[in-house]
Order: sequence, then structure tokens, then C-alpha cells
Amino acid sequence: MSYSITTFISEEEIKDKVSELGRVISSEYRDKPLFVIGVMTGSVLFFADLVREIDYNVEMGFIATSSYADGSSSTGKVQLTHDITKDLTGKDVLIVDDIIDSGNTAKFLLDTFRSRGAASVKFCALLDKPSRRQVANVSADYLGFTVPDKFIVGYGLDYAGKHRNLKYLATIEF
Ligand code: IMP
Ligand code: MG
Repeated sequence: MSYSITTFISEEEIKDKVSELGRVISSEYRDKPLFVIGVMTGSVLFFADLVREIDYNVEMGFIATSSYADGSSSTGKVQLTHDITKDLTGKDVLIVDDIIDSGNTAKFLLDTFRSRGAASVKFCALLDKPSRRQVANVSADYLGFTVPDKFIVGYGLDYAGKHRNLKYLATIEF
């Protein structure tokens, strides 16, 4: 299938937003035992830039999820395919993902990590597509950009495994 990609959010705009998020997170968690969890694979570029904008010592780890789809829509069933084994009791946990779409992944991850005895569990997303939400009351505590209902690639996000290594975010037209 042929398609074209168009720059949507530039490298410069991403940099500015990520450093602003880092400043806010640094001041809100200041000196608390923060454990930052990246959701593979989509968040890894955002994650790597974001943690370098947090100006005190944090712990970090990665998880991966898979969600089942029937045709083009998510069924809502999400599974952890890679987990962290660290004890999170008493720690502040910040989950970092690329995008909240239906909200199923965010809800599943918040429920899962809240049941593990963390002092707090919050969600940071680079992008949010609120028009696609299937789950009530799911939103990011820290958000980069609200985006319209368009398929987005780059800066970690893929289409069929491609375009993750773009330095900017782009929309894809089929
Ligand atoms: P949710 O569980 O429906 O909120 O899905 C979240 C996951 O769907 C994200 O972590 C992405 O992996 C994927 N996703 C949703 N929308 C897009 C998009 O526009 N581009 C790339 N991946 C997307
Ligand atoms: Mg994902």
C-alpha cells in the first residue's frame, strides 16, 4: 500500500515540550523516590529524552504490552508481555507511554501498578487522541500534545513497524 507522510509536530516543538514536561515533573516529585516506567516500544525515544530533563536521580525500567484487536478496533484486552520485577512498594511510579488512544492500555497499566503497593501511580503520555476514547475517565497526568483522530508516526510511533526513528511526528495519508 502506498502512502505519504507529512510533518505534524517538528523536532523543535517536541524538544520544547519535553523540556517543559521534565521541569514540571522535576518540581512536582522533587526528591521523592520516583520510578519511571517506559512502555516499549513506542515510548522509548520520548522516554530517553524526558528522563534527561528530570534534574534529580530517578530509577527506571521498561515494560511492554500487547492489546488484542478485532479488525481495526481494540477489544480492550491488554496484557503485559514484559514486566519489571523491582519492588515498587512506597515508590512514586510514573508510567510513560507514546499515545493514549482508546485508553485501554492506560487503564490496564494504572490498575495493574496501583495494585502493587506504590505510593502513587501517574501517567505521562506524549500524545492524546481524546476523540477515540473507549474508556471513561482515562487521561494523562502529564501530556505533551492533544492530537486529532489521525494516524501518527515518528519519534517512537510506528506504522507496521516503520518510521519509529523519525526525529519529528508526522501524519500518514493512505
Ligand atoms: P490504546 O490502548 O487504544 O489507548 O492504545 C495505545 C497504543 O496504540 C499506543 O501505545 C500505540 O502503540 C498504539 N497507537 C494508537 N494510536 C496510534 C497512532 O496514531 N500511531 C501509532 N500508534 C498508535
Ligand atoms: Mg504502545
